[in-house]
Amino acid sequence: MNAKIESAFNGAVDWFNQRTPSLIPFYKKHMSEYYAPKNFNFWYFFGSLALLVLVNQIVTGIFLTMHYKPSATEAFASVEYIMRDVEWGWLVRYMHSTGASLFFVVVYLHMFRAMIYGSYQKPRELVWVLGMLIFLTLMAEAFLGYVLPWGQMSYWGAQVIINLFSAIPVIGGDLTELIRGDFLVSDATLNRFFALHVIALPLVILLLVVLHLGALHEVGSNNPDGVDIKKVKDKATGKPLDGIPFHPYYTVKDLVGAGVFLIIASFILFFAPTFGDLFLEFDNFNEANPLVTPAHIKPVWYFTPYYAMLRAIPDTLAGVIVMGGATTIFFLLPWLDRSKVRSFRYRGWISKMMISLFAICFVTLGWLGLQSGSETQTIIARICTIFYFGFFFTMPIWTSIDKTKPVPERVTSHA
Ligand code: HEM
Repeated sequence: MNAKIESAFNGAVDWFNQRTPSLIPFYKKHMSEYYAPKNFNFWYFFGSLALLVLVNQIVTGIFLTMHYKPSATEAFASVEYIMRDVEWGWLVRYMHSTGASLFFVVVYLHMFRAMIYGSYQKPRELVWVLGMLIFLTLMAEAFLGYVLPWGQMSYWGAQVIINLFSAIPVIGGDLTELIRGDFLVSDATLNRFFALHVIALPLVILLLVVLHLGALHEVGSNNPDGVDIKKVKDKATGKPLDGIPFHPYYTVKDLVGAGVFLIIASFILFFAPTFGDLFLEFDNFNEANPLVTPAHIKPVWYFTPYYAMLRAIPDTLAGVIVMGGATTIFFLLPWLDRSKVRSFRYRGWISKMMISLFAICFVTLGWLGLQSGSETQTIIARICTIFYFGFFFTMPIWTSIDKTKPVPERVTSHA
């Protein structure tokens, strides 16, 4: 660097440092001196990818809001206007709608990683609980967003989901009216959903993400071996021998993950933005019509595992309880898992079988939720639902009796 530029740069750094002395220690604590285990594999890309998609959703959302009209008479046409007349509007809209689905792909894989490596176990229970709060808020955010284009599926999806609250005894009727702001899904509903989608929930999500990372950096990251890297430290420096500074090592590595992700995302965005009815449903290209019910109302793919459970249960209230339970039961994972080891690498065959069957059940339920719901499909959905809850309820037993392998002192590297 040229000497003059260097001294100007150092001067600017000093100026900031004198006024905010905590800035550089903050940067060091969370980046250049945050020691992360050196054996992170591809599963560890999904946290930073979730951050990347979050930024994409916020930036594209701001541009969509510049042209979108939150009114029942104008909303659908304003989205068409964005798609056809606004310069690059089609790209911004598809980046946002495809981004929503990719957010769930990334977050589901991020959660599954935590499950296979036992990242929710002590001392990371709070990281997991905050993650779960993000997950629930994200689901609410996605549901609200899907109503905004005011297409047929926006309208009827909202109708079905909001009506579920009416199954709650005593307060159900009033609660449903409160959510809708009217006696039916209408302009008032769209207005409040818009307010919640563009400002209230994004703020909550951002706050939760900050807390999630803050909680993680207090205790340090887990890793594919589930080994505690703080146990073996360099005697001279006191730094963990199996750790490397997050910056520059993982910032650079995460850039590779982001590059691969963006290539895949671009292919979807430019060649299959609706992803064959999965990311944007074809019925939603028709304007909402309260007088015409679509033949087959179904939610977007990321809700279908829970929707399949709801549909498989004949009683509405019981269905709502099961659906709510299926999303919230994950909160209990840190206390249901009694295994002495974290990572599935060192667990026995029972744990490996259970987690594999759980993943198969989850995907099967997701597929079933997209189907028409024939008799055979309902039976399969019931079997999967029983296994889904059985996985959690019996977890204290099978994690205690399962034979574990000895965990190494230091992390292993699988080149
Ligand atoms: C907007 C959504 C989310 C963002 C931006 C996010 C971000 C991150 C980041 C950057 C990390 C560190 C890097 C990594 O381990 O991959 C992380 C770790 C973690 N996240 Fe999330 N996360 C999100 C949602 C969730 C959800 C929904 C859960 C679970 C319910 C969760 C559970 C965890 C756990 C347990 C860890 C520690 C993993 C370990 O150390 O092995 N996160 N998250």
